[in-house]
Amino acid sequence: MTDGRRIPVIIDCDTGVDDALALLFAVRHPALDVRAITCVAGNTDVDGVVRNTLTVLEQAGAPGIPVARGAERPLIEAPRSAQHVHGHDGMGDLGLPEPSRRPADVDAVTLLRSEILASPRPVTLVPMAPLTNIALLLRTHPEVVRNLERIVFMGGAAAVGNATPVAEFNVWHDPEAAAILLTAGVPITMYGLDVFTRVVVPAADVRRLRGSGEPGARLAGQLLAHRPAHPDSRPGDPSETSGGLGDAGAVCAVVDPEGLTTHRLPVDVSLAPGPTRGMTIVDRRPRPGEAELHEGTREQPLVDVGLDVDVERYVKLYLATVEV
Ligand code: RIB
Ligand code: CA
Repeated sequence: MTDGRRIPVIIDCDTGVDDALALLFAVRHPALDVRAITCVAGNTDVDGVVRNTLTVLEQAGAPGIPVARGAERPLIEAPRSAQHVHGHDGMGDLGLPEPSRRPADVDAVTLLRSEILASPRPVTLVPMAPLTNIALLLRTHPEVVRNLERIVFMGGAAAVGNATPVAEFNVWHDPEAAAILLTAGVPITMYGLDVFTRVVVPAADVRRLRGSGEPGARLAGQLLAHRPAHPDSRPGDPSETSGGLGDAGAVCAVVDPEGLTTHRLPVDVSLAPGPTRGMTIVDRRPRPGEAELHEGTREQPLVDVGLDVDVERYVKLYLATVEV
């Protein structure tokens, strides 16, 4: 916490196993004031995302936070889910009861605009999904920028991709939306795969969470123990399963930015059809090269790119927060 006051936060998600881990943390950490949660197609279809998000909030005992339904598909591409990773229902097929609450009767962009502008202090926006809603917000209501403190997004990669050899899923799913985000004109932190994949909860902690009598902690354990159904996943013994925090690490970076090492670097998104589409091109060169010498300098937005993370620090923070 900067001045001892809670940080106003809005999360945009495609719940998702790891989005669910992030939501459990966000609604339980005392430094965060989660003003709203908006849903977008990504890991699963947008209605599944809404259902999963409401379910998580009920399991966590935080049903009162407004949740709104957003984009059903990317700006240009067709939707391409990650159900092979997150399960048929998008959240590990845990058989949780249907949520009793319904989403807000306004769409995600409307809720984002109203909650951002109504916040008494600038909002930290935390997208952890394809950036379609955020792009639509910035193009429809650019005035929201005046009350945004920072955008901390899970997405991109400075090195290795996951959806493709070079592209991370959230950016690959809607590259045009990611390009619009990067030119938002507010401070941006990129919590990409370079740090996303490293924050892993040890098996003993996962086992303890799974045995908890408290629904939110137990759900965190079940989600951490989830393994994709795809053929080459490690069947392994679930009791010996560590689990990645995934998107939750981006929310840890909001609460404890000192745990993330960032470098302010030019970042571009490859939009061209072909093998690099959706790649985040992070320029880590110490100086311009021949391209700039002969073709002139292209102004790229500067982004605070996460290149290292204190894994133990974030795992400890997560466990201390979710295990109530
Ligand atoms: O590439 C990882 C990202 O894609 C995470 O946000 C995960 O939930 C999926 O949305
Ligand atoms: Ca996600």
